[in-house]
Amino acid sequence: MNKYALVTGSSDRIGKAMAIELAKQGYRLLLHYNNSIQKATQVKTEVTSFGVEAELIHINFLEENNFDDIFLQLKNRHIQLEVLLNCAADFIPSDFTNNGNELLQKEIKINFEKAYLLTKAFAHVFEQGLIVNFLDTKVEKNYTKHLDYILSKKLLKEFTKLSAVHLAPNFRVNAIAPGLILPPKDKDETYLLNLAKNIPLQTIGNVEEIAKALRFLLESKFVTGQILYIDGGEHLV
Ligand SMILES: NC(=O)c1ccc[n+]([C@@H]2O[C@H](COP(=O)([O-])OP(=O)(O)OC[C@H]3O[C@@H](n4cnc5c(N)ncnc54)[C@H](OP(=O)(O)O)[C@@H]3O)[C@@H](O)[C@H]2O)c1
Repeated sequence: MNKYALVTGSSDRIGKAMAIELAKQGYRLLLHYNNSIQKATQVKTEVTSFGVEAELIHINFLEENNFDDIFLQLKNRHIQLEVLLNCAADFIPSDFTNNGNELLQKEIKINFEKAYLLTKAFAHVFEQGLIVNFLDTKVEKNYTKHLDYILSKKLLKEFTKLSAVHLAPNFRVNAIAPGLILPPKDKDETYLLNLAKNIPLQTIGNVEEIAKALRFLLESKFVTGQILYIDGGEHLV
């Protein structure tokens, strides 16, 4: 059996950085992507330069997926999944002025439901492992500029704790809650630097800070159900 890690949303940004970190730690990679096949292919080239094997997995989280079947097929190929990083996400503005629940359903599906289903399938098919869910420091707040996004992340936060208890002792389930790490796709670093004036450490982070948190969770076999806020203290204020 070969030790593998699955990273959802691995084609760019934080997911890509986590895939590279796992490759440095000797994990073979299952690189999930949805639209960004070219970027995902580049990530595959980059991680294999660390001497590990990698393969791409295409899944659109807005479609129905049978993760038990996908994992069983992997297991039949002697792939031993040891680490699951639920990193893929959709980040859209929505608030109380939006009618209906279309945006809520979309955010729940991509940001919560697939992490929930992947977690259950991981525990059904494999014997042990580590799951890391990517939250957002704003799960501690009650801002409504991204109402549906934040609701989906709050759900994932609670599921992290529930699954940490239920899946122990064979699985550890933790979360990383990033703060000001990378700007939204339509903004630049200046946007983050302005926001940083209002958080305790008055600076922005970077993907290496997230990679350090991941290394800690990989190594810390006595840690489960924790949420690491990598956010310059933002969740406190
Ligand atoms: N960036 C930050 O500073 C920050 C702050 C707080 C929290 N976070 C959290 O940290 C994680 C990583 O953040 P990020 O900014 O690197 O993420 P991102 O770039 O916004 O998204 C990551 C990936 O999610 C995938 N995705 C989106 N819709 C999908 C769908 N329908 N099906 C399958 N995959 C889909 C995309 O894959 P494709 O490109 O292949 O379509 C995308 O590359 C997220 O969970 C985010 O909420 C990030």
